[in-house]
Amino acid sequence: MDHLRATDPEIDQLIEQEKQRQASVLRMIPSENYASPAVLEATGSVLANKYSEGYPSKRYYQGQENIDGVELLAVGRAKELFQAEHANVQPYSGSPANMAVYLALMGKGGKVLGMDLAAGGHLTHGAKASFSGIFYESASYGLDRDTGRIDLAGVRRMAREFKPQVIFCGASSYPRQIDFAAFAEIAASVGAKLVADVSHFSGLCLSGDHPAPFPHVDVMTSTTHKLLRGPRGGMILCKAELAGAVDKAVFPGLQGGPHNQVTAGIAVALKEAASPDYADYCHRVVNNAKALAEGLISRGFNLVTNGTDNHLVLIDAGAAGLTGKVLATALERAGIVANANKIPFDPRSANDPSGLRMGTPALTTRGMGETEMDLVAGLVHQTAANLNDEGALDNIRSLVGELCAGFPAPGITPGSEC
Ligand SMILES: Cc1ncc(COP(=O)(O)O)c(C=O)c1O
Repeated sequence: MDHLRATDPEIDQLIEQEKQRQASVLRMIPSENYASPAVLEATGSVLANKYSEGYPSKRYYQGQENIDGVELLAVGRAKELFQAEHANVQPYSGSPANMAVYLALMGKGGKVLGMDLAAGGHLTHGAKASFSGIFYESASYGLDRDTGRIDLAGVRRMAREFKPQVIFCGASSYPRQIDFAAFAEIAASVGAKLVADVSHFSGLCLSGDHPAPFPHVDVMTSTTHKLLRGPRGGMILCKAELAGAVDKAVFPGLQGGPHNQVTAGIAVALKEAASPDYADYCHRVVNNAKALAEGLISRGFNLVTNGTDNHLVLIDAGAAGLTGKVLATALERAGIVANANKIPFDPRSANDPSGLRMGTPALTTRGMGETEMDLVAGLVHQTAANLNDEGALDNIRSLVGELCAGFPAPGITPGSEC
């Protein structure tokens, strides 16, 4: 990046340092990944120079012959992959995608039923701190206390009592599958529209490792930068009858011009996601998460729901006499980057919760497998046992460095592809 180095050495230096960090630590925040060099190239392209409010063939500015082609490719690929009747790839990210869905499906003050933030839902599913709980009347469903799984009888009861216009399913921190068919039946029974936010596990819906949202749901939303390995962005897929409302909600309802360079990156990521290699990658993500879960359980950790069906595990650090933050801080010191997270029925606050959330998407992109996951579980265990022992943490840090050196980071280490 010679030009950047010459123009703005401070930013260049920070980017170089971040490259180093991403190459040399175990990145285990479940919502993070490595985009391919092809995705990064498209996202850093001259498409960023173009304004294109509107949609293909219906723009408010001239000069769209290439931009329309880019957006049509992204839309076509999204529809085909997820078996959807309509796709909008313009949302700036996952939260704006969800916001546009509210705008499309409900008038001001409409009613939404979503998964409780504390149970693993996302802020935009009706949490009181977000637009979704401020501008809309929201209620939340949660988990069964005994199993830690979504309490579907509770969802049905809440739906009957609250009579929402929209039900959100999908989660940010839930290690099991979402039963779209069951949610669809509940939504239909109260005349609500069903939205599946598959941001965290979209790829698993493509590879068959998780049920597909369509034809059960009315709308699917997703970020494009998590398991999907695209640039930071969002998309909305829906039934044909909602296409007009969704498009109007995104533009002009909520946004101005789309970020064309991101649309191109999304198109590339979707092309990559259509390949057999990507399906194989998703299978390995799940197998790795299961191996990580087993490795942690065999070393004495308590996991929410005792394991995982998807790409993440949730450790109850409280059961080990720790907090999520204490463990996350020590792990970062040792080169393992995860995040403190609430666990179901957590007695602690969101700022200092009891849990630690760890995911396998990024490590799997680097090519790590089940053997490495067991090694990582061992390193987590060693870290938890040596929280204040600088020598021990240094030792773990160097083992992490050796592990990372054996698995080059795609898009960062020259020559390595996703
Ligand atoms: C389920 C879910 N939906 C939406 C979002 C929001 O995405 P963004 O951070 O891109 O706004 C997230 C982010 O983590 C998420 O987990």
